[in-house]
Amino acid sequence: MDSLPYLQDSHLPRHVAIIMDGNGRWAQEKNLPRIEGHRQGSETVEAIVEASREIGIAHLTLYAFSQENWHRPQVEVRALMQLLKHFLLSKKQKLLDNDIRLLAIGQIDSLPQDVQQTLTRTIKDTRHCSSMTLTLALSYSSRGEILDAVNLAIRQAMAKNEPSLLMDEKSFDQLLYTDGRVPPDLLIRTSGEYRISNFLLWQMAYTELYFTDKLWPDFKKEDLLLALQEYYQRERRFGRTREQVLATC
Ligand code: IPE
Ligand code: IPE
Ligand code: MG
Repeated sequence: MDSLPYLQDSHLPRHVAIIMDGNGRWAQEKNLPRIEGHRQGSETVEAIVEASREIGIAHLTLYAFSQENWHRPQVEVRALMQLLKHFLLSKKQKLLDNDIRLLAIGQIDSLPQDVQQTLTRTIKDTRHCSSMTLTLALSYSSRGEILDAVNLAIRQAMAKNEPSLLMDEKSFDQLLYTDGRVPPDLLIRTSGEYRISNFLLWQMAYTELYFTDKLWPDFKKEDLLLALQEYYQRERRFGRTREQVLATC
């Protein structure tokens, strides 16, 4: 399988981001409570993390809970938080065994205390792992992230008594939760929705977008492979012409 061109290191996206959508509809289609969809969705998370690690993707970012998701019914929010804590506790060893470093982006201090503690602990305990980075977007809002970065810049400038606040893309990038790390090369969104839902707006300026009708609990390694195959066929031009791109290949 490794001989397939789209799975060769040089053709793989370095960073894949996923909007994991469709858990609720998956459950509702089966006359199950929505939380069953989230439970099944967390099994998919495990499988896709493992598949990504096997394939050789260096960075995987998963949109697990948005700021807007706080507006869902309390029982669903509570269940999602419990699931998250359970996932972190039960999968930590697996992350360590697979040399996967965990990171989180979002307004982490809005998470329940016990979830924050478990998250911080897992992040700390996996910090030496380097084969893959798994970033969970939790209580995440891209507009919130951009505003936080702007406010941080203003505060830093005021603290240094600097009269003006001038920034370039690189210095701004470093103020985001993503801290200047590589931007996503490929975004996958499941469940047939064609929107970004306040996810990594700055970082995805040049990301390739891939949409699939599969609901997240049904998303399998084969579906990830299809997305990677499609990515391989895309021509990323970054504003240049086709001829210029071909000349640098
Ligand atoms: C994605 O599935 C999980 C979260 C947003 C937490 P949804 O719960 O949004 O599923 P649908 O969109 O209702 O089917
Ligand atoms: C986006 O899914 C957030 C996550 C996947 C965590 P939603 O289901 O909340 O998105 P919208 O509200 O339908 O755009
Ligand atoms: Mg949804």
